[in-house]
Amino acid sequence: MNVLVTGGAGYIGSHTLVEMLNAGMDAVVVDNLCNSSAESLLRVEQLTGRTVQFYQGDILNKPLMQKIFADHKFDAVIHFAGLKAVGESVAKPLKYYQNNVCGTLILCEVMQEAGVHNLVFSSSATVYGDPASLPITEDFPTSATNPYGQSKLMVENILADFQRANPQWNIARLRYFNPVGAHESGIIGEDPNDIPNNLMPYISQVAIGKREKLSIFGNDYPTPDGTGVRDYIHVVDLAIGHVKALEKLQTSPGLVTYNLGTGQGYSVLDMVSAFEKACGKKIPYQIAPRRAGDIAACYADPTYALQELGWKATHTLQDMVNSSWHWQSKNPNGYHA
Ligand code: NAD
Ligand code: WQD
Repeated sequence: MNVLVTGGAGYIGSHTLVEMLNAGMDAVVVDNLCNSSAESLLRVEQLTGRTVQFYQGDILNKPLMQKIFADHKFDAVIHFAGLKAVGESVAKPLKYYQNNVCGTLILCEVMQEAGVHNLVFSSSATVYGDPASLPITEDFPTSATNPYGQSKLMVENILADFQRANPQWNIARLRYFNPVGAHESGIIGEDPNDIPNNLMPYISQVAIGKREKLSIFGNDYPTPDGTGVRDYIHVVDLAIGHVKALEKLQTSPGLVTYNLGTGQGYSVLDMVSAFEKACGKKIPYQIAPRRAGDIAACYADPTYALQELGWKATHTLQDMVNSSWHWQSKNPNGYHA
């Protein structure tokens, strides 16, 4: 199978490339490197012994996208390219709608012109807003609390309308919970620009000595220890979920939507203590006020993905934090020497 991977140089994209290439698929990447480095692709090649053709460019550049589709015959596209910083999306909503929504429109137009009708889209558990109960199944109502989440929800709805009008299309909307961890080799991993927004890379940077201490955003939530609970999923499990979704699209399922999570919630304090075990050091922290827009708890019911894709997360929490620490300690500055 020959697959175009938009945003393939990024965190989830690079891990997915490894699983795809190891499964015998071929991949071409388009990425503008606005939040990544081409070094990740070199490392994917090093890990797999395979080559990945790379176009450095923007999915908003329609002539470039047309050229890529003219150069190759694709069976499917995985669409990771997007901006993902929630806080920045509140400050710069147009940038997020332009990139995430308009970028997807251009991609779909070019795919339609080229006769490529199989698409895997990176959605997010953020589309469930503040869920009324837990665990979350795919039929829960959707809503958004910030422009980033709104852009994901808009794209989900656009893809549903588009598939309804074009039943020959097969589209998998994958709703990721909280991806963490790194490939077990420590050769690829998450390399955030600037101050990390997410918990796991922040803890890692405290452990390596780049940040003084973690701020825990609230310890008065209605959760077992008062801190926020999330469904952290190992990025390699998530990557394998994409390979399964590509295989599913070959069976012409039309529009499908799957939660990719473990079904297990862990608190911020659980994450801190698991990480302390992995790195053998104390992680200094302070309790800070709640972060605007955060919810108390969120975790998936992953049953549907198991039934439909035969996919299930297998890595434990300790696997997740051990692999994060392995990557961080081997690459203190990420992909930058
Ligand atoms: P990432 O920032 O590491 O990867 C995204 C990649 O897309 C980057 O390499 C970036 O340079 C590229 N990109 C962005 N806009 C582009 C454009 N217009 N043209 C070409 N390339 C562009 O992020 P990630 O964590 O790997 O996330 C991948 C996808 O998964 C995103 O769509 C994100 O919204 C979604 N997602 C991520 C999470 C998470 O917590 N990491 C959770 C749910 C969903
Ligand atoms: C996890 C928990 C925080 C940082 C976000 C996006 C979501 C999705 C995944 C893309 C929460 C707490 C965090 C810190 C902390 N992304 N925390 N101190 O908020 O569940 O989800 O990333 O789609 O859309 O909203 O993940 O890692 O930011 O936070 O105490 O410095 O850690 O309050 O309880 P979140 P997160």
